[in-house]
Amino acid sequence: MAVRVEELDRLNMSEVSQSAEPVLIVGLVTRDMFSADESTPGGVPSYAGRTVAALGVRANILTIGRQEMDRSALVGHTVKIVEDSNTLTFLIGETPSGERSLRLVNRPARALCASDLPEEWPAPRNIIFGPLLPDDIDIESFYRRFPDSKVWMIAQGLQRTIESDQSIGLNSSPTDTLKQLCRPGVTIFLSRIETKSWSQSDMDELVASCDLVAVTNGDQGAYLRLGDASYTVDAIPAQAIDTTGAGDSFAAAFAITRESSLVAAVKTAVGYGAMAVEKSGPAPMPRWPEVRSILRDSEVKSQVIEQDNLARHAVIIAVANQKGGVGKTTTAVSIAAILGEMGLRVLLVDSDPQANATSSLIGREASESSDALYRVLIEGESISTLLAATQSSGLSLLGSSMALAGAEVELVSTMARETRLKSALSSVQSDFDVIIIDCPPALGLLTINALVASNFVLIPLQCEYFALEGLSSLQETIKLVKDNLNSGLQILGIALTMVDNRANLAAEVEREVRSRFAATFESVIPRSVRLAEAPSHMQTISDYAPDSAGAVAYNSLALEVIERLDLKP
Ligand SMILES: Nc1ncnc2c1ncn2[C@@H]1O[C@H](COP(=O)(O)OP(=O)(O)OP(=O)(O)O)[C@@H](O)[C@H]1O
Ligand SMILES: [Mg+2]
Repeated sequence: MAVRVEELDRLNMSEVSQSAEPVLIVGLVTRDMFSADESTPGGVPSYAGRTVAALGVRANILTIGRQEMDRSALVGHTVKIVEDSNTLTFLIGETPSGERSLRLVNRPARALCASDLPEEWPAPRNIIFGPLLPDDIDIESFYRRFPDSKVWMIAQGLQRTIESDQSIGLNSSPTDTLKQLCRPGVTIFLSRIETKSWSQSDMDELVASCDLVAVTNGDQGAYLRLGDASYTVDAIPAQAIDTTGAGDSFAAAFAITRESSLVAAVKTAVGYGAMAVEKSGPAPMPRWPEVRSILRDSEVKSQVIEQDNLARHAVIIAVANQKGGVGKTTTAVSIAAILGEMGLRVLLVDSDPQANATSSLIGREASESSDALYRVLIEGESISTLLAATQSSGLSLLGSSMALAGAEVELVSTMARETRLKSALSSVQSDFDVIIIDCPPALGLLTINALVASNFVLIPLQCEYFALEGLSSLQETIKLVKDNLNSGLQILGIALTMVDNRANLAAEVEREVRSRFAATFESVIPRSVRLAEAPSHMQTISDYAPDSAGAVAYNSLALEVIERLDLKP
């Protein structure tokens, strides 16, 4: 996908910046660590502030330190400096191997928090955070106060460590602080320096739990990941690259223009990243028309290239209905087993404390000790070590136990509580073709976690008189999840279960459901005693009674699922 100049010409920058306001920038002002002139002001508010000003945005800036700090880079904005006897100060040195080293000299006594904001500042549409150390801003306090704001996290500082000799180090993988701050609505900016030692799954996990991750890479440009797509963007030439301001300006420009289009935003971002390098210091940055003309004339092509070489990701299906006993587990287990036999790599996640799927696949006894999902959700253990093999070919299980009932309660007070399953599954998403989640008969946090993690929801509906009752609250929950946490969620279909062929009532219900829901599957699951018996033999229906009406019906449902998902076994 090449960037065309017309895309930039079409941008009405004054409209773009107006619709970004109000913008809040929270971060510590320090002196420019990489400028030859020691007095040049630096820190995220300085660079981001200059960039948003050049784009026509007047921001509210919250910072902390000595009142007499140099605020020349903040002109044009409304600034509140929380009084502290120390302004954040680093000392720059060089390691014996010639790499840059940082040492902490002074820092404010406490973290910036949402209660520091002046009452009269409006709720921000966009918040740009620029922590320079893991704990210099109480970011959660802002999340709580402004749950609807878009967040742009310049996250390098969250990866730093402070050693006992006050030297600043770097974590080699994503820190818990960073992971916990990732959630829908958040964009993370990092640089190549922090991420170079990360594994692919480190990155996948982060991408899965937030909106977008952008990694700037000096004069090489930047790398963006959102969902399954990844983009690399060439930089435009700039004289020197050795500065932090470039990443901050990149992030600020991206934040302001993101609503217009991804391509325009990233183009603007590399433009201002380069400007920060060219024009360091407190002087204003060039306004948009000037940057646009540089972008247009630049000899180096600035391209956004879609990469096809990403690992294929499993499609995730939640089997949900808050009504009890409608055939969720029977459907989840049967379909999972059939898809596995067809040669797909299938993971069944038992997200029900009753653990019926677990006991029907690996037995009661094993399931007593199988608190796998609990350990994943609450204790943050990695999924890969907790997977259980099953008798069924191609089918793995992430088991459940009664302990999971506690998780529903314990999750309430944890961070990112709705996205924990999604984050956890992202680390195994390239190991499977399909992940099926068997939900409990309730619309609590376990079902919400399943819906947030899923691409699709499959709804089993028992063909009885009250079948449609309760369907509307399930639909409402699905809509809430779609609107707030997982815009990609789709209803895969409604599966009619336990259909009694001799009953007129079933036929009537079936007609009613089909007329109201076009997504109803053609295949109908009959009431079949074999289906009820199979679990007690620890067998799936295709092993226990492959020729039974139940097995035949689930086979044809599985084929419909494959067709709707466009899966190729
Ligand atoms: N088509 C069917 N014919 C006969 N019995 C069935 C059929 N489908 C499910 N059953 C039986 O009905 C009971 C409930 O089914 P299942 O456990 O699949 O429902 P569920 O929606 O998962 O229940 P819960 O809400 O408690 O998790 C089980 O005993 C199961 O064996
Ligand atoms: Mg069940």
